[in-house]
Amino acid sequence: MRDLLYGGLKRIDMSEFKMVVKKEEIHHQISEIAKRISNDYQGKEVVLIGILKGAFIFLADLARQLTLEKIQVDFLQASSYGADTVSSENIALKKDIDVEIRGKDVIVVEDIVDTGLTLAYLIDHLKSFGPSSIKVCAMINKHERRKTQVNVDYVCSTVDKGFLVGYGLDFAEHYRNLPEIYHMKL
Ligand code: IMP
Ligand code: MG
Repeated sequence: MRDLLYGGLKRIDMSEFKMVVKKEEIHHQISEIAKRISNDYQGKEVVLIGILKGAFIFLADLARQLTLEKIQVDFLQASSYGADTVSSENIALKKDIDVEIRGKDVIVVEDIVDTGLTLAYLIDHLKSFGPSSIKVCAMINKHERRKTQVNVDYVCSTVDKGFLVGYGLDFAEHYRNLPEIYHMKL
């Protein structure tokens, strides 16, 4: 396993990381999802709403593979506090959208759906703007800790459990830039 020179300061031991999704696999999955979305939304005005920060790389790659004519991009950010007692009451909006989504078709782009509470909160928020539809596209659907029922319409990879980093996913704001997805021992 290679080492990563992080920020030019500290060498991180990658032997604690196990690769779970290779770069080629991620790119293949994204092209397949992009084909499905392009097909499902032909002739429609789509607004991709990325959930910051984790979705920034996934959204950038997905958006460039879509063959739809009218796409807008915006971002939402939620903050959760009291991480050990996760509940929707602990989630607040940190950054709202600027684009008008009334009557438009929205696709929420998320890095990973875990308990589902963040997504449920953000979908409720987006519904208040009156879009004509809201669907969800997630890079990873993680099942073990799901606490609320959320529909994830487009999924690249499904995992049962574990803490993942890379390709936008962080641990304490690090490792988002890794081109593959790794399981990290905590
Ligand atoms: P949820 O409300 O529990 O579904 O939280 C989802 C958010 O928690 C994701 O958007 C990520 O920011 C973060 N998260 C959940 N699982 C992981 C993981 O395995 N690695 C990195 N971040 C994660
Ligand atoms: Mg996230």
